[in-house]
Amino acid sequence: SYEPTRDDKFSFGLWTVGWQGVDVFGPASRPLLDPVEATYRLADLGAAAVTFHDDDLLPDEDTRDATLDRFRTALDETGLVVEMVTTNTFSDPVFKEGAITANNREVRRYALAKVLRNIDLAASLGAKTFVMWGGREGAEHGASKNVPAAMDRFRDALNVVCGYVKEQGYDLRFALEPKPNEPRGDILLPTIGHAIALISELDHPEMVGLNPEVGHEEMAGLNFAHGISQALWHDKLFHIDLNGQHGPRFDQDLRFGAGNLRGAFWTVDAMLGAGTSKRYDGYVHFDYKPPRTEAIDGVWESARACMRNYLILREKVQAFRADPEVAAALEAAGVHELEEPTVAPGESLDDVRNAAKKMSKADLEALRSRSVAMEALDQLAMEHLLGVR
Ligand code: GCO
Ligand code: MN
Ligand code: MN
Ligand code: MN
Repeated sequence: SYEPTRDDKFSFGLWTVGWQGVDVFGPASRPLLDPVEATYRLADLGAAAVTFHDDDLLPDEDTRDATLDRFRTALDETGLVVEMVTTNTFSDPVFKEGAITANNREVRRYALAKVLRNIDLAASLGAKTFVMWGGREGAEHGASKNVPAAMDRFRDALNVVCGYVKEQGYDLRFALEPKPNEPRGDILLPTIGHAIALISELDHPEMVGLNPEVGHEEMAGLNFAHGISQALWHDKLFHIDLNGQHGPRFDQDLRFGAGNLRGAFWTVDAMLGAGTSKRYDGYVHFDYKPPRTEAIDGVWESARACMRNYLILREKVQAFRADPEVAAALEAAGVHELEEPTVAPGESLDDVRNAAKKMSKADLEALRSRSVAMEALDQLAMEHLLGVR
């Protein structure tokens, strides 16, 4: 039936369904959607949680308290939770040259203060994850950014916010969201790998992980399923942004399942552990933009479709993993053999050298000409996805 339940832990950014369709070539194509209304609507559709940037929910000081009251009522009435909060450090032109890594120190301090205030709000709403997407941290001009200094400031800012969360006793972890470009020409922390590398330089690396977004890795031509699998291996997949993308081009933020459908299949497989015990157990969070073509009915249709596509793909992935022919194909492709260490415990490198020396020409020839049987394995996945198995 593919009807979402709260147990599916679906979560939406309020900025997703709230996106009015403003793009570089034209103004809004949809009226403003009240974020509190959107919260009720997402609950009706089957979501379990919502997330937001400070400015999505609380765009101005005058209405801040009243809106927060209405929002808390909506959470009470629907049973929805706020699982993640993030800060808008990209819309205000004050951040045009960066926020926490802007060249201008006053801007950096202003950005840090905005983040700190929003951390307090996140904690007060019970959020467990705090996303940091540095969309304006980057450059268009060659000599304009001292990258090592920017990395120093990035590190310092993360150390400061981690220290603050510890000092306040908040139960909150940070998740960095990589993106290669857009809105900046080149953004710092362009990929999952770059972000993981920065985390290893921090004072409290255990408090910082990743929020990878499907489209962002695919904009860089990368394999998202591999990226999140590596993040899981590092215990760094703290959160996820699911959406769709058609290859390297502008950030499309399509609904989940649109664009690279095979990639979406392997993404769900990776989230479920890809046949291993390392799986993602956080909220299944959608960060997409209902296309500018759509009126409000299309907005809700696209939100429904994100969840439905996830549930359909989850079923396909589970059927693929449970299929005995797939088990045999995995065996034939030697997939499990990779789990065996190359050098056994107690073996010496001389053992390895001697074994290699003892290989005959025929042994090597057999390895060169063997079948790796991967086309058959991949075709089974294709047929599960196409619904003919
Ligand atoms: C994008 C980004 C943003 C961030 C969000 C969190 O599509 O470029 O995903 O939507 O995820 O702003 O801060
Ligand atoms: Mn995006
Ligand atoms: Mn995102
Ligand atoms: Mn997004």
